[in-house]
Formats: sequence, structure tokens, C-alpha cells
Amino acid sequence: MLDMRPSEAGLIAFHDHAPEEESFLEATLEGLSRPDKAIPCRFLYDERGSALFDQICELEEYYPTRTETGILKACAPEIARRIGPAAQLIELGSGSSVKVRVLLEAFDHPAAYVAVDVSRAHLLRAARRLAADFPDLEVAAICADYAAAFPLPELGGGGRRLAFFPGSTIGNLEPEAALAFLKLWARRLGPGAAMLVGVDLRKDPGVLHAAYDDSLGVTAAFSLNLLARANRELGADFDLGGFRHEARYDQGKGRIEIHLRSLKDQGVRLGRRSFAFGRGERMHLEHSYKYEIGQFQDLARAAGFRPDAVFTDPAGLFSVHYLTTS
Ligand code: AVI
Repeated sequence: MLDMRPSEAGLIAFHDHAPEEESFLEATLEGLSRPDKAIPCRFLYDERGSALFDQICELEEYYPTRTETGILKACAPEIARRIGPAAQLIELGSGSSVKVRVLLEAFDHPAAYVAVDVSRAHLLRAARRLAADFPDLEVAAICADYAAAFPLPELGGGGRRLAFFPGSTIGNLEPEAALAFLKLWARRLGPGAAMLVGVDLRKDPGVLHAAYDDSLGVTAAFSLNLLARANRELGADFDLGGFRHEARYDQGKGRIEIHLRSLKDQGVRLGRRSFAFGRGERMHLEHSYKYEIGQFQDLARAAGFRPDAVFTDPAGLFSVHYLTTS
């Protein structure tokens, strides 16, 4: 479905692919029925969860956001040189479209910006704001799951395409899913294009534990909000005080594992079902994979990209990979 809104300041086109919202109820019932209970991490981002995630990004202990922004500011002129004039920029999971401004400001007359996100209201708000700030840019907003197959709109300008996937969101995908995602985009972008991916790096477990279990308890509130959301939206009766947020780094697997641990034997009602939690039982919420630089480059190569350049911060906390298609 295409909804053209030429009269609205700046925003040129809105393409609504109505991402099939997997029912929160179905996913929660399925996840709680498993021997190892789990709720998928994509449900963390309701209105309150998104606001809490924005707060996480501001925390002293959560280094990824400010480190990646610093890298982007430093490498933007080099990326601009590589991508050339009249580039078409496609941001996957665009959220508030903040980091992309660093690139747009450095690029030589960028022609188009396409924001892709599942959150319709957030997407339209951010795309309109950006269109107003960059009046010469063709701006399109696509409401879709970035990992799904949706058509890319015809864009003007004739420059090269650059897909932008910041924030180490790729780390929230299992490695097989990350490979499938990169393969999809290598194919979809076609020859002569590039992709810029933010990837968190393996590091001292102490730094990682602090980043995912901060002293102010914002990350814990972010995890517990999932239970509050289930109570609010599904009529569940989770006792928020009966669960504790836990973040543990598995060095062998190179991933932070986020769970909620039940502090007592308890039952939770959801619809007509009841689920028993034993004292100490854990429910899985999220994995956040960390990569070595070479390891991520191998993954990109296996997906059909050429790892062209990699940019890091002086402390080697985070990496930004510039990948090209042949
Ligand atoms: C969105 N994503 C990249 C975050 C991460 O670092 O894995 C999600 C997050 N969960 C807790 N803190 C941050």
C-alpha cells in the first residue's frame, strides 16, 4: 500500500507494508509454555520500553551509543568520499533518525533518505522532522520489518545506495539470523552499493556487565517493563517484585544473556492458563552478541559483502563496518 502525502512539509512518500504484528499474546503464551521460558526481545519496545531504551543510551555505563556516534563523526568524511555524490541512504530500524544526520551532513548532496521501521507513529514523526531539516532531500518512510522482503522505492539522484544499520542491533540476532539478514540486504541492494553496520566488540566482561546491569537500575526497569506490558495489555498478573533482572556474559559464546529470575515459587495467570515459576527459575529475554572485528568480516563475506573498511574508537569498544557489494 502506498500513501502519497505531497502536501505535508518535506515528507514525500509513505509506504505502509503493515508489518504483520505477531500477536504479543500468542508469543507470550508460546514462550511461557516452553521448558526454558522466554519472551522475544522485540516486545521490549512498547511506548514505555522505547522511552526506557532511550534512557539506557544516555547512561554512563552504556558505552555503545556515544561511542558509535563518536566513530561516525570521525569517519563520516571518509564514508562520504567512498559513497560519492547524490547517495541514496536507507536506514534500517531508523527509530528517531538521529545518528544518520551525521552522515547526511557530511555527504556530498545526498539525494534520498529512506527510513524503515515497524513503529508507524515514531517513523512518521522522525521522517517528517528530518525532511523539514533537509529540504533538498527526497525522504521516504517505509513501515516494515527491516528483515522482511519488501520492495525498495524508486529513488532519484542516480548516486550509490548505502544501507545503514547502526546501534549493534545486529547483535540481538542469533548468528544464523544475522547471516540471513546480511544475505538478504546484499541481494536487495544490488551491485555497486554499500552497507554501514555498527557492531559492538568483545571486551572485558566487567565493562559488559555494567553496561547491561547499570547502577541506576534503568536496564532492570527496561526488562521488568515487559512483565508490566503483559499485565497492561494481556491482563496477566505478573508480580513485578517477584522477578529480578540478570545480565550475564558468556565468554565462550561472546554474548550478553538477559534473563528475569523468579525470586520465589509463584504462579502467573494469563488468560485461562496458569504458568508455574520455581524459585530461581530464569526466563530468557535477550541475547546481545559481541564480535571480534575479523569474525564479523567473515560473516559479512559469507553473506556476499566485501569488507571494505572498519572504523573503531581509540579504546576499541565498538566498530563501524563499511561493506560493499561487487
Ligand atoms: C538494541 N540493542 C542493540 C541493545 C543491546 O545493546 O543489545 C538492547 C539492550 N538491551 C539492554 N540494554 C540494551
